[in-house]
Amino acid sequence: MTVTAKAPTFDAADSARRHLVPNFTRGQAWRSGDLGVMQRGEGCYVYDTAGTEYLDGLAGLFCTNLGHGRADLVRAAAEQMAKLAYYPTWGWANEPAALAATMIAQVAPGDLSEIFFVSSGSEAVESMLKFVRSYHLSRGEDSRYKVISREWSYHGTTLGALSVTGVPRFKEPFAPMLWEGTRKVRNTYGDTAAELASARAVEDMILAEGPETVAAVVCEPVQNGRGGLVPPDGYWQELRRICDRHGVLLVADEVIGGFGRFGHWFTSERFDVVPDVITFAKGVTSAYQPLGGMVVRGELVESVWDSPMGAYLHGATFGGHPVATAVAVATMRAMDEERVLDHVRAHESGFRRRMDQLADAHPIVGEVRGLGYFYALELVADRSTGRTLSEEQHAALRGGLLARWLRDHRVLIRPDDRGATMLTVSPPLVADNQVLDDLADRLDRTLTTAEAWLAANR
Ligand SMILES: Cc1ncc(COP(=O)(O)O)c(C=O)c1O
Repeated sequence: MTVTAKAPTFDAADSARRHLVPNFTRGQAWRSGDLGVMQRGEGCYVYDTAGTEYLDGLAGLFCTNLGHGRADLVRAAAEQMAKLAYYPTWGWANEPAALAATMIAQVAPGDLSEIFFVSSGSEAVESMLKFVRSYHLSRGEDSRYKVISREWSYHGTTLGALSVTGVPRFKEPFAPMLWEGTRKVRNTYGDTAAELASARAVEDMILAEGPETVAAVVCEPVQNGRGGLVPPDGYWQELRRICDRHGVLLVADEVIGGFGRFGHWFTSERFDVVPDVITFAKGVTSAYQPLGGMVVRGELVESVWDSPMGAYLHGATFGGHPVATAVAVATMRAMDEERVLDHVRAHESGFRRRMDQLADAHPIVGEVRGLGYFYALELVADRSTGRTLSEEQHAALRGGLLARWLRDHRVLIRPDDRGATMLTVSPPLVADNQVLDDLADRLDRTLTTAEAWLAANR
């Protein structure tokens, strides 16, 4: 058989419709719709096969943090491929994995010093779940296995990570296959520093389950599901205190937050907390290679190694992949040399101002939430009267209208329906004032279109 990837008649959209199974995309839309094929990228912009330019307002999926078309990252990958494309980290180290681990340890909060690499965020969460269990076993606390996470949180799609995820729609089809050791508590939506009821909910759950059965509490520093949930002051300190009191490990899932999204290497630093484990992925290579992992306090790793288990019994073929970790090294060097964290912190108030101005101009923006280079605009029917979207309006917007208008206005951001109808805005971290103006302008036009439709379809 001859495999023809690119014959003169090759039509990528048609081939994709026939043979490519997309991620989280309705089959009917994929097969019948106007399927776009992305072809190339430059800075904060991407171009489809028709040559149409789009602003990458979500940094791909919160990951192309240094923007597209970076020759330095390409070179780092190519040089490593030429030198050593692959060797497992089972019993052997390789140079880029060792260097990336060292660089990550240098910027990790507190005494988190040990890095375990995998290839994605879901795998990072899986690794964390098995690690926290291993740690408690190493201390003879065999009864600890439950993991507490929050409603509407997203921690990935593999079965362990999906069990921890708090988005009902993603879980329901797989319910019989999910792990029953997870518990959900309220997230920080609507909570205040004076109340901290969302932190109390964590302690109440630990007490209700029996502290001796709980292994870990897992939260994103700023929760994406339910839209840009910035915790009230003191929340993370309270989680730290609660976990310490009950011998529970505190895990920050920084798959989105790690590597600069909130102006710090790790967002835990911004909230002045030292968790026991941090999971990361996405921005660690600016998405030029698939890489994820976890950062762990050294003494926890020692405890597992010194126990009768003798090893952390987990691993994967591509864990510590030399090419992926070489790109992580190049990404961190570029972030350092180009002062990307300073750039995010210097621009975040201007970013926020632009989002607030959109809300001022558009009564359908009910609330703006977020921090750093990460914001959610929650949509309502009319903010001034407090009228929310009707079920029909929600359904229509989520069912493809928002996505179509965003595409029409050439801005690729995410229409989100986890708990409300929202737009999530999270461009590459290198976006400057010009790009942020362009982003606000394209969003302004999208919101105008949405407003007109909602007025005509009450
Ligand atoms: C907080 C968080 N954890 C885990 C994941 C899963 O990462 P991946 O899609 O790389 O498996 C994601 C993905 O968006 C995430 O946002």
